[in-house]
Amino acid sequence: MGRSLLFSANISLKSSCHSPSCSLPSYNRSYQCVPFSFEGNSHNGFPRIPSIHAKPARNLSTTKAVLSELPYQSRYPKIGASSTGPIPLNQLIQVVETAAKTGAEVVMEAVNKPRNITYKGLTDLVTDTDQMSEAAILEVVNKNFGDHLILGEEGGVIGDSHSDYLWCIDPLDGTTNFAHGYPSFAVSVGVLFRGRPAAAAVVEFVGGPMAWNTRTFSATAGGGAFCNGQRIHASQTDTVERSLLVTGFGYEHDDAWSTNIELFKEFTDVSRGVRRLGAAAVDMCHVALGIVEAYWEYRLKPWDMAAGVLMVEEAGGTVTCMDGNKFCVFDRSVLVSNGVLHSKLLERIAPPTEKLISKGFDFSPWFKPENYHTDF
Ligand code: IPD
Ligand code: CA
Ligand code: CA
Repeated sequence: MGRSLLFSANISLKSSCHSPSCSLPSYNRSYQCVPFSFEGNSHNGFPRIPSIHAKPARNLSTTKAVLSELPYQSRYPKIGASSTGPIPLNQLIQVVETAAKTGAEVVMEAVNKPRNITYKGLTDLVTDTDQMSEAAILEVVNKNFGDHLILGEEGGVIGDSHSDYLWCIDPLDGTTNFAHGYPSFAVSVGVLFRGRPAAAAVVEFVGGPMAWNTRTFSATAGGGAFCNGQRIHASQTDTVERSLLVTGFGYEHDDAWSTNIELFKEFTDVSRGVRRLGAAAVDMCHVALGIVEAYWEYRLKPWDMAAGVLMVEEAGGTVTCMDGNKFCVFDRSVLVSNGVLHSKLLERIAPPTEKLISKGFDFSPWFKPENYHTDF
């Protein structure tokens, strides 16, 4: 997408919706995670081991021996949807991409103009571009699938909660970077089928002032990951020492945040470096692109992750929670990697995460729309 693209959608902000940041009852926060069941007997021709993916958290040390004997592809279950229901995948991805590109046109229009900033918290910014981008994306989704459920960062939950499809929309991921003109932000759109990512698109802004451009990542469950139409693959680097890693820190400076500061220090010591760019969707796409080996963060929201996790999995990578358990987009931690390295990273990341869990830190799923039906 070039700088010259014009945004022509008719933008109207929906006043009837509930913002996640101010209207908690929109979400079923008391949703309890049930143990994930073992799905299928084999994956890529290898046997799967059900017990190591079951919640509550498994004991890593006792399963390590079993894990190390398995090819890495078969150690962790797939997170992508195994079915996409009655809507053909090519139709779904076409609308997902159009929605993300429409949002990106709004962002591109604003990228060289003064920002109109308001605050959700002391350092948590939002701009009118976040809201306008989301309105433009919603218009595309509603026009094509008026009966689907939508979870937007700015607008909250809209639509039919009985729908099997849930659109997770981050209209501007990396708002702080956007506000500063720092080149790591994106528009991220992912659609779930019964709770599992089915199709995804992320439009990343690259370059910087005087040189803004975009590249578009897309993925479908079982159909591979692409960047500007070309197939992409995660890296094959198999040692932490030869890895470039990425992490992120949310706006809430709690115990998980402090734990990740320690992980940042530890991995900076043993790897080629740990980057902190500030846009979760972009960070995950960089793992899918094979330019970094892994990314992790505590307390991301479904709209931060829905698209990026599918991109990584479809590029051949692996996605789990930071304690090694099976991941869903309503989880409060994520580790995505090139796959080869996943177990080695978990050796350092899982123990402090399990410590947080044993201290009672809340890792129960969040931001799952009430009554939304999932397969897990
Ligand atoms: C944030 C970015 C950031 C991550 C935060 C997110 P936002 O999203 O993805 O990298 O560290 O946890 O909230 O607020 O810019 O959309
Ligand atoms: Ca975000
Ligand atoms: Ca955002």
